[in-house]
Amino acid sequence: MSRSGNVEATRRDVLVAGAMTVVATGATSNAKAQVPAPSVSKPAVPAASGDGALSKVSMTINGSRRDFELDTRTTLLDALREHALLTGTKKGCDHGQCGACTVLLDGRRINSCLTLAVMHEGDSVTTIEGLGRPDHLHDLQSAFVKHDGYQCGYCTPGQICSAVGVLAEIRAGVPSHVSADLMAAPQISPEELRERMSGNICRCGAYCNIIDAITEVAGRKA
Ligand code: FES
Ligand code: FES
Repeated sequence: MSRSGNVEATRRDVLVAGAMTVVATGATSNAKAQVPAPSVSKPAVPAASGDGALSKVSMTINGSRRDFELDTRTTLLDALREHALLTGTKKGCDHGQCGACTVLLDGRRINSCLTLAVMHEGDSVTTIEGLGRPDHLHDLQSAFVKHDGYQCGYCTPGQICSAVGVLAEIRAGVPSHVSADLMAAPQISPEELRERMSGNICRCGAYCNIIDAITEVAGRKA
């Protein structure tokens, strides 16, 4: 009590002293110069705009049709989390750099923070909630549990959605940036998986176990 009273008194003293210094300085300078301050007109400040245009958009999320009326500036990530209340998809950087927000759009993996919801009229979105259920996990979800492919788990929904997309890309012959030799190898190499998963950051550093989990589900042991 007395301590906080002292602290408060000290802060008040400092503020009063500071204010007095400003007043004194201004008075001195005014006395010396006697020059009227130029009149400066303030630039017009644009009104804070919180009211963007609304637009209707419908999409299929995890097999169910969902209809929204959204501010056109709403990202797909925010539509999923804030409007569809599917909070499994995580917001990390919100700038396309961490992969935490990865979902599947018509089977292809995307960063949902980098696209606007209104651009996805009629599209089909799969989030981590749509891959499996607690009593019936997706193979990759089970493999992540088995191989300890996570610690805090924040990146995990994005990692798993991305891994689903990676395995589909490999099956479809979508090239990666690894060498042609690695691409042609009969077994999926850890290097190729690391390259394909490089957009998904894990701050806990669970990378080795994540690669083990994906390798197991890929069915071709590295
Ligand atoms: S939150 Fe989308 S990439 Fe980081
Ligand atoms: S498990 Fe914590 S960030 Fe990946």
